[in-house]
Amino acid sequence: MSIKNVLITGASGGIGIAIVSCLLLDPRYKLYTPSRKELDLASEKSIDDYFKCFSEYDIVINNAGVNVPECIEDIVSDHIKNSLTINLVAPLLIIKNCVPYMKRNGFGRIVNVSSIWGVRSKEKRTLYSATKFGLNGITKSLSRELGQYNILVNSICPGYVRTNLTEQNVSREEQEIIKKEIPLRRFAEPSEIAESIAFMIDEKNSYMTGQTLIVDGGFLA
Ligand SMILES: NC(=O)c1ccc[n+]([C@@H]2O[C@H](COP(=O)([O-])OP(=O)(O)OC[C@H]3O[C@@H](n4cnc5c(N)ncnc54)[C@H](OP(=O)(O)O)[C@@H]3O)[C@@H](O)[C@H]2O)c1
Repeated sequence: MSIKNVLITGASGGIGIAIVSCLLLDPRYKLYTPSRKELDLASEKSIDDYFKCFSEYDIVINNAGVNVPECIEDIVSDHIKNSLTINLVAPLLIIKNCVPYMKRNGFGRIVNVSSIWGVRSKEKRTLYSATKFGLNGITKSLSRELGQYNILVNSICPGYVRTNLTEQNVSREEQEIIKKEIPLRRFAEPSEIAESIAFMIDEKNSYMTGQTLIVDGGFLA
């Protein structure tokens, strides 16, 4: 059994913790979960420095992300730069740094954690949707470019997940209204997103690439 090196960003957050818990006891994986101090996704220099030390990852899970809902009038250039850099540019640069090793090995699995707001959108999600639609575009283009090297690239698009991010961005009243519109009548547990990601990176996933897998309890259906 060859052990696969797995890079997970945003491992300290709600979904990140669940991904780590899901994969931690699997002997096939060695997990790398850099903190923001070790790998600051808002800084291209930090990304460059991180990969100068080590870039031999078989599997990359681009999970870190920010979502600050704002009306168009309140968006200023610092917010634009921050969202685009963390949610879009950083995943792209991470993949760029990891692909040469994956190509040499003839194996790679890349999962970009997008959102249902990367497929549809709603008010005050201009920046978030711009980045998550963009991330899904990266997934599609790279799946075509890298498939010949057995590097599979997919996006997962969670709906509402029971995390601090959701608590911050959706009021309790709004949560109750939304739950009535979700066929499963509840938000996802972070572990339910992690289980789908676990399948996407598994060798059992040998033919799914270029997809935007929506895991939303049927909300967008
Ligand atoms: N929660 C949901 O309902 C939901 C739904 C759809 C999609 N998503 C997506 O799922 C992913 C994870 O979301 P979550 O709910 O787990 O969010 P979260 O709890 O807010 O966690 C965000 C993670 O991103 C990291 N991060 C933020 N800025 C960073 C930076 N500059 N450098 C390095 N790391 C940084 C945070 O690190 P620190 O601990 O250092 O802050 C944290 O680990 C995101 O991409 C989000 O867009 C979430």
